[in-house]
Amino acid sequence: MESAEKRKRMLSGIKPSGQLTLGNYIGALRNFVRYQDDYEMIVFIANLHCITVYQDPQELKKNLRDAVALYLACGLDPQRATIFLQSDVLEHAQLGFIMNCNSYQGELNRMTQYKDKVAKGETNITVGLYTYPCLMAADILLYDADYVPVGEDQKQHVELTRDLAQRFNHRYGDTFRVPEPVVPQVGARIMSLSDPSKKMSKSDKGDKGCIYLLEDVRSARKKIMSAVTDMEACVRFDPQDQPGISNLLTIMSSLSGEPIEQLVQRFAGKGYGEFKSAVADVVCAQLSEIQARYQQVIQSGMIEQTLQQGSEQARRLARRKLDKVQRKIGMEFRKK
Ligand code: TYM
Repeated sequence: MESAEKRKRMLSGIKPSGQLTLGNYIGALRNFVRYQDDYEMIVFIANLHCITVYQDPQELKKNLRDAVALYLACGLDPQRATIFLQSDVLEHAQLGFIMNCNSYQGELNRMTQYKDKVAKGETNITVGLYTYPCLMAADILLYDADYVPVGEDQKQHVELTRDLAQRFNHRYGDTFRVPEPVVPQVGARIMSLSDPSKKMSKSDKGDKGCIYLLEDVRSARKKIMSAVTDMEACVRFDPQDQPGISNLLTIMSSLSGEPIEQLVQRFAGKGYGEFKSAVADVVCAQLSEIQARYQQVIQSGMIEQTLQQGSEQARRLARRKLDKVQRKIGMEFRKK
């Protein structure tokens, strides 16, 4: 990706099936904010994706509202970015079905998230969860996105989207732009604090491994201070042999902007307690800033207005694209 490509289009989304996490922030959200000046940015709340797993309706409502508020609190600006709720634009579900019909079972069987659930012996996997990469492809292709900023775990889904776009273009003639994933160099995969072999995830309820953006800072500090490390007693970046320390270095570097090598030098010969305390300072300062702005957003009445304006903009683009797709397939025979 070239940095100075003005007005190329970028699109991404987050699925608030729980409270947003520090992993979501470092791997995705803060990059959306960074890119909104240089790209035409479209960011949505993937609420259809949320219900691929059962959600308590009251909790889901709260999580959706909090997610929009956090988008704004983290710095997404509705004047510069199109921000909307996925279910407000019905074209997502319609193109999602069309994408289902252009994907093969073998492709979906290879998706890591699905495979992991099967491997764990989960028996309550919904059909929606199995086919969700097709809906995600539709989310992206509806808007002719050039780039899709995501964390490491979503890269495979963007690769599938590329395959589906190319297949469709080949079958029906040029229709979709083929998007590229944009994965951050540092922070693409923030690991759990309690088990650094696992991704930090919002579904790890009650886990000490996950920090939430709206979490009390004292609780966040506690989790960092008790993060799992190792017996090496040396602050070094070695994800293989020192995954816990390397994860903390990644978190600190992502948030402070100080390169990892510099942090390693700064903490040479220092104990893990001192290092963790410095990581906690950086994380808590960031959380406090976001939480203060979140309170302002909640009180401002900006949420409804943002979603109204965003869904109108998104609908215009999505409608045009879906019409084109349906004409190409031969589904629409009336003259337009
Ligand atoms: P979701 O909600 O699981 O995650 C949202 C974004 O946060 C990133 N992320 C992480 N990055 C670093 N470390 C972590 N521990 C971590 N956890 C999550 C994810 O990689 C992602 O970028 N299917 C998507 C949502 C979606 C979407 C889309 C994204 C739906 N349609 C279209 C892009 C384009 C999802 O479940 O993300």
